Amino acid sequence: MGSIQVPPGLEGVIAAQTSIGAVNGQQGFYHYRGYNAVELAGERSYEEVWHLMHRGNLPERGDALEFAAQVRELREIPEDVLSLLPAIASNPSTPLLAQLRSAMSLVATSLGWSSWLDLSPQEQAQQAAHAVAIMPALVAALANGGVAKAGDKSLSLIEDFLQRLGGQADRTPEQIRALEQYLITTIDHGFNASTFAARVVTSTGADLGASLTAAIGALSGPLHGGAPSLALTMLDEIESAGRAEQWIQNKLDAGQRIMGFGHRVYRGTDPRADFLREVAIKLDSQRTQLALDVEEVILASLARHRPDRVLATNVEYWAAVVMEAAGLAPELFTPAFTMSRTIGWTAHILEQAANNKLIRPSSDYVGAAPNRAMAQAF
Ligand code: ACO
Repeated sequence: MGSIQVPPGLEGVIAAQTSIGAVNGQQGFYHYRGYNAVELAGERSYEEVWHLMHRGNLPERGDALEFAAQVRELREIPEDVLSLLPAIASNPSTPLLAQLRSAMSLVATSLGWSSWLDLSPQEQAQQAAHAVAIMPALVAALANGGVAKAGDKSLSLIEDFLQRLGGQADRTPEQIRALEQYLITTIDHGFNASTFAARVVTSTGADLGASLTAAIGALSGPLHGGAPSLALTMLDEIESAGRAEQWIQNKLDAGQRIMGFGHRVYRGTDPRADFLREVAIKLDSQRTQLALDVEEVILASLARHRPDRVLATNVEYWAAVVMEAAGLAPELFTPAFTMSRTIGWTAHILEQAANNKLIRPSSDYVGAAPNRAMAQAF
């Protein structure tokens, strides 16, 4: 078969078929298995959407309870991993996501995860559920310096995460629901870099731990997992500078980008930003009014700056406001995103394994010409 030249970054290339979800940038919506994702976040629980992604359907009440009871048993970190977490968390300058990558690797070895080629589909699904269930406990323990606090099986996964983090009781039901809604909106979003990375590693027959550490590694890059906390830094700076319009104009004049605005796929509104703005307004944190005022000024400034291009608010801007209002520290923003995206990653991993073909593209060699002897061999 001849070679096909594709654009840098594989932009616009369809690399696989999937039944898990898709992003429609033109129409400004995205879905999970055909269900509008922001509607799911408005109406459903985290566990119900997790069921949809892993089992393929939204559960009836009985199935939902049964699923929640099953996955509740999978939250605890194995003893041998627990004893090693303080070492992973010992350097406070190591980002939480890098710590999480190491911790996930330890979990995989501790639980004896092996090549999915040796596992039945049921065993693969069980491991996938285990990964999702354990991730919040890992994040909470690492955030606490590698020391795990006791969880509570009577709580939902999100409540249990907050309990392990410390201070679940200090949060209102509205704050907890807001965090749950944020997490549901970030479960899956098309063929992004970390999802693709997970599928590439899975395609080799590697174990689930290998696929997930690759995905976490991809997400840790600032061009992907981003830094939603940068939107908060910007709001802090604007608040102390006092003059939003001037602050933004200075940034644009300096050729800098305004964090939380613009998107590769959405040319208009990012539906996640619209949804999370409403969530933030309901929470009514001190930050919300400032964020609303500043958003208006930024949108007007960007429209003047680039009249040829729609630069709208993206998910990161309002995600930061919601997570802060829900009581999460900025360093936990991307790890929290990792918890929910693990559902998307594992759904893709299961799908890849169910219909596998080794992903092995070619490259276009542009280096020095091969020497004569070698050239003759071609
Ligand atoms: N502020 C100012 N100018 C911008 C912004 C912005 N936020 N976003 C795009 N532009 C301008 C660029 O300067 C560029 O101008 P040029 O053509 O003169 O070079 C033009 O719009 C196109 O920019 P691209 O980067 O080519 O557009 P793309 O759609 O690929 O970029 C991206 C999307 C990376 C998100 C960009 O809008 C950006 O950098 N935004 C700020 C960072 C941010 O919010 N990241 C989080 C994204 S959401 C997510 O990933 C989950």
